[in-house]
Amino acid sequence: MELFDVYPLYNVTPISAKGIEVTDEKGQKYLDFYGGHAVISIGHSHPHYVDRLKKQLDQIGFYSNSVQNPLQYELATKLELLSNCEAYQLFLCNSGAEANENALKMASFHTGKAKVIAFHNSFHGRTSAAVAATDNPAINAPINLQQEVTFLPLNDFETFEKAIQSNDYCAVILEAIQGVGGLDEPTTEFYQFIAEQCRAKGIVLIADEVQSGFGRSGKFFGFQHHGIEPDIISIAKGMGNGFPVGGVLIHESFKASYGLLGTTFGGNHLACAATLAVLEVLEKEQLIANASIMGAYFKSKAAEIPQVKKVKGRGLMLGLEFDFEVTDLRKRLIHNQKLFTGGAKNKKLLRILPALNITEAQIDTFFEALKNEL
Ligand SMILES: Cc1ncc(COP(=O)(O)O)c(C=O)c1O
Repeated sequence: MELFDVYPLYNVTPISAKGIEVTDEKGQKYLDFYGGHAVISIGHSHPHYVDRLKKQLDQIGFYSNSVQNPLQYELATKLELLSNCEAYQLFLCNSGAEANENALKMASFHTGKAKVIAFHNSFHGRTSAAVAATDNPAINAPINLQQEVTFLPLNDFETFEKAIQSNDYCAVILEAIQGVGGLDEPTTEFYQFIAEQCRAKGIVLIADEVQSGFGRSGKFFGFQHHGIEPDIISIAKGMGNGFPVGGVLIHESFKASYGLLGTTFGGNHLACAATLAVLEVLEKEQLIANASIMGAYFKSKAAEIPQVKKVKGRGLMLGLEFDFEVTDLRKRLIHNQKLFTGGAKNKKLLRILPALNITEAQIDTFFEALKNEL
């Protein structure tokens, strides 16, 4: 059987990985400054992560959400502690798109309305409502277009204020730092304005922290740079360090009822063990502080390179903008310098998403490699 051919693949075959180093079948090592789309948060095959998953698998890997699973409570408690998000309830699922799908569904249940506001260059996933709220017509099939989504420019106060006069909206969804779009951000004033307007109008504010969450921005959540409190927070990616897991933090003012949300796999024992391992390593190794310090170091090094026109992002969710398209540069970085980086919808942007335990020496290696190719 052929694979359904939807991914343009680099000709690299990783067979093992450790920290930020990935090794292919010929023994060639690569430095991973991309983490497989921002997924690797504590480094590949972190010993504590491997150990916790192996032990869990020896005990019980899976049972569905029809029996008690104490790991879910342990996870919720640890997540509350590290994120300082105290007024929320946790629903666990399997991916970022599913997290946003559930977030949007909860907003619609809660308000009895259906329309959504999203922003230009947003990316929220590929399922029905999540993809409809994604600013990319090419990945929206006709079936997705039955959702009613209004796309607005980021940081445009007047347009936003005008749009929400209609009283039809159940949700506003936004990324604290746009990932796939290209690292643009709402200003603090704009995010606070949105939060105030949503509160005044009874619209549910959804913070999509699928990519910017779990410490990547240098705070536990990206919105915490702006002093706001969303109604719903969606999480995935770095949460499982490669184990497929997602979730939604739902404000305690939202009422749960049996059957309202559900999933077969979500919150299973292995997924909880993976997420707990990530949280434990983030805490023990102080990786959120490291993300902030290494992000500042990365930016200072980037400022020394004349070809870099702009450095975007926060913590270790970073982008280098050039005045040329980076497709070829990315290929040369992989094949000549043995270094993984990412692209974005903004074709002139190189995306940098390393594990949060990266060191100054590894960042120095990155810049040497980049200079060689520039
Ligand atoms: C901000 C954001 N939200 C949602 C998603 C979708 O996540 P997933 O691919 O796990 O469904 C992504 C994926 O890139 C993302 O960056």
